[in-house]
Amino acid sequence: MSGSRQLHFGAFMRPTTIHTGAWRYPGAFPDANFNLGHLKRFAQTLERGKFDAFFMADHLAVLNMPLDALKHSHTVTSFEPFTLLAALAMVTEHLGLIATGSTTFDAPYHVARRFASLDHLSGGRAGWNIVTTSNPDAALNFGMDDHMEHGERYRRAREFYDVVTGLWDSWADDAFIRNAESGLYFDPDKLHVLNHKGPYLSVRGPLNIARPVQGWPVVVQAGASDSGRQLAAETAEAVFTPPANIAAGREFYADVKGRMEKAGRAREHMKIMPACFVVVGDSVQEARTKRAKLDSLVYYDNAIASLSIALGHDASRFDPDKPLPADIPESNASKSARQRVVEMAEREKLTVRQLAQRLGGYSGLAMVGTPQSIASEMEEWLYTDASDGFTIMFPYLPGGLDDFVDRVVPELQRRGLFRREYEGKTLRENLGLPRPTNRFFETRRAAE
Ligand SMILES: Cc1cc2nc3c(=O)[nH]c(=O)nc-3n(C[C@H](O)[C@H](O)[C@H](O)COP(=O)(O)O)c2cc1C
Repeated sequence: MSGSRQLHFGAFMRPTTIHTGAWRYPGAFPDANFNLGHLKRFAQTLERGKFDAFFMADHLAVLNMPLDALKHSHTVTSFEPFTLLAALAMVTEHLGLIATGSTTFDAPYHVARRFASLDHLSGGRAGWNIVTTSNPDAALNFGMDDHMEHGERYRRAREFYDVVTGLWDSWADDAFIRNAESGLYFDPDKLHVLNHKGPYLSVRGPLNIARPVQGWPVVVQAGASDSGRQLAAETAEAVFTPPANIAAGREFYADVKGRMEKAGRAREHMKIMPACFVVVGDSVQEARTKRAKLDSLVYYDNAIASLSIALGHDASRFDPDKPLPADIPESNASKSARQRVVEMAEREKLTVRQLAQRLGGYSGLAMVGTPQSIASEMEEWLYTDASDGFTIMFPYLPGGLDDFVDRVVPELQRRGLFRREYEGKTLRENLGLPRPTNRFFETRRAAE
């Protein structure tokens, strides 16, 4: 193993922890999701740990669980991402600020404006996680009866991306002259009207905000299905999709980077940073004990509801002490989540109850061990082309975050695997991503 590559880290912060037992863990802040003082402290700790970004997921509906399960979950309320990230921009200097923006329930003009605003407010630290929205209940909050079909959601997302980035390119970087003597505020030749009319969207433009500091906020994706991978390959500059293990990670990495090349993009213009749940202990055994304690705090109602969400079917009707029925059909919910769960049940010969208990905690990619063992695992992922970094999910707050920043980060720095100082001011500079050219101005200029 050799090389000068270094890891990049995002922090998955909405919900502040995805584990439904977390708020009851000894010493945890039960109201972490909805307390600005706590969130400010977390953001500043992440910046002390030289994290690339703070990531706010978004779901547009409370979690689609029965009330008896939902009532145990801390994930039920969180801040709206843009208002929170604008506040956090004022108390941080380097930390990237990534929010989810839905291509199914939002309008591209809104999305383009909000991210452009956040990018200006933060001095070039914004990122857009493109989602087609996984929670079908969101439809009911936006005047629709049903969630749009999966394939159609992704076709609309692809067009949506072209519109949003086209709106960000509305103005040349030097459009604003602001010459008080001549009275010319901007050069009208440096303004482009998009005039987009496509199968799903119709947007005239131009955007009423100057081109973002980064040109475009960093574009992120977390899809895993074939359509999700393809959208990532064509558009994403960072990808958060979690593979089940390192072998699946290498397959995903090679597949998405290969698709990128086919789409005419350079492989290094995307950082693959899978979501990863990290539990740190003084010994591997202690870390496992912490995780077991955490998992013991999950209610069975929540566990079975989490399984229903992953399958897209009501799992409470299955016999809890039998294996998962073989003939569960695909649904309109996440295809990859369903497949992962079905495979896990088969591979590990789990009953419905055991499978549910896994899902009620966190069943995705996890690293549970000492700072040294976790650093070694991450090193292997980096140097065998399974990832370029990770999007860290903390088991409980603030303890899990403090453990990572105070114990894992120094170990990675000692091994030369992680930065000691930020490389630049913007999220793009820190991730090592190029500034996109303005398709209406810079490419034209280059061709002239
Ligand atoms: C780290 C991570 C963050 C995600 N954030 C969101 C989110 O904020 N909102 C959302 O609706 N879906 C979110 N998703 C779900 C994905 O966008 C996607 O729908 C899911 O991974 C299934 O992929 P598929 O749609 O390609 O089947 C997230 C997934 C991951 C792994």
